Amino acid sequence: MLTPFLKSWISGNIKETDLDSISIRGGVPLSGTIEISGAKNASLPLMAAALLSENPLTLTNLPNLSDIISMGHLLTGLGAEINFQVGKNGPCAATISAAKISGTTAPYDVVRKMRASVLVMGPLLARFGEARVSLPGGCAIGTRPVDLHLQAFEHLGAKIKLTEGYIQATALNGLRGGHVIFPMVTVGGTENVLMAACLADGETVIGNAAREPEVIDLAQCLVLMGADIRGIGTDTLRVQGVPSLREATHAVLPDRIETGSYAVAAAITGGDLTLNNGRIGLLEAAMEALRRAGAEVCETETGLRIRGGLRPIKGIDLMTEPFPGFPTDMQAQFMAMMAVAEGASMITETIFENRFMHVPELCRMGADINVHGASAIVRGVPKLSGAPVMATDLRASISLILAGLAAEGETVINRVYHLDRGYESVESKLAACGARIERLSD
Ligand code: EPZ
Repeated sequence: MLTPFLKSWISGNIKETDLDSISIRGGVPLSGTIEISGAKNASLPLMAAALLSENPLTLTNLPNLSDIISMGHLLTGLGAEINFQVGKNGPCAATISAAKISGTTAPYDVVRKMRASVLVMGPLLARFGEARVSLPGGCAIGTRPVDLHLQAFEHLGAKIKLTEGYIQATALNGLRGGHVIFPMVTVGGTENVLMAACLADGETVIGNAAREPEVIDLAQCLVLMGADIRGIGTDTLRVQGVPSLREATHAVLPDRIETGSYAVAAAITGGDLTLNNGRIGLLEAAMEALRRAGAEVCETETGLRIRGGLRPIKGIDLMTEPFPGFPTDMQAQFMAMMAVAEGASMITETIFENRFMHVPELCRMGADINVHGASAIVRGVPKLSGAPVMATDLRASISLILAGLAAEGETVINRVYHLDRGYESVESKLAACGARIERLSD
């Protein structure tokens, strides 16, 4: 089944269906099976990694999401060739050949829509000695600077200049191995410098590296391509630069945040969902929190089974942290569940400075939430009521869907293009489990 985005990609004219909204009539305990797609946050750096090699990189289990389309556009704009193979049910694969590159600029209109565009910097700098990437600008959840990426590149010998809103990075004699210690954990910063280090001359040590599963997936793919990386999965990565990389095929790991989002859907509706390809090892902290809140979480041969409704949802305290701590990308989803819990919950967001945009929208549905700086106090209410609400960012969108699934009456979520960036076929996956959900196109 080709999603509208993939159809428009193939026909060459991307159309942002930003007028679409989603209507949900809540109150149905979900029951059934959901196939978990490949991880968006692994796919994007993996696609950028293809720029490191003159040989093709084939990625399988790619989710068909608008962000994947956007990254594809960025890469073809740089001169890479992409051959998308679309499976009959949607999950797709792509073979990316970056043998010939026609440019090293990532333009503002692409970067502003997708911050992950900055991940082309490391590969371009390492292979071609230059990269000109628009400063991403802020987004709904915070300013999200890239200063740590740039400092890391300077440790590898790059010269960085900021002109006219663009980052101009050069390394005319190539990058040389260096010692990078990140002052704070940065997923994108780790990924960017890891890719650059693969072709640098000599050894690079990356200290305080992010350990997210998506970083591990990228490192494993780079090793498949011929990179020499030690310490994968730890906070210290050692990379011996190599002259070039070879052809490789890599399967994108399952999306742990999609898994966690649907796990919360089972809990908040008192349902029973089997999440095929879900791997508990990718999101232990979130599943532990789900158990503490009263849901039953168990592993099956094909993935995970989540059962809600066995006991009332209990209010629990949460604090987001880098992996393996509780993921910031699951904060909004848990807040929706805490809104209908018995008791109170304190949710503290330590990663982003403005990741409570879903709070006012949840309050429109009757939630009792008060934000105090980086923490939100959620006092559970017996029931939420459906209302028209506005999606502001990707994870806020799914949080509103979850609230709508549990609420009495109809919820209409506007601006769902945010949702299409990170959740493949969300309405069909939920409808197949009994949700009364439909997409309303203007
Ligand atoms: C990645 O973003 C993910 N995106 C985010 O998922 C995720 O929330 C985040 O990591 C944290 O896990 C992708 O992988 C495409 P960071 P990233 O660099 O790499 C600050 C989603 O919903 N920082 O780890 O941009 C930054 O402002 C998205 O799927 C600097 O100050 O996150 C933030 O406060 C949202 N300077 C903190 O570090 C820098 O140079 C963590 O950012 C870089 C980051």
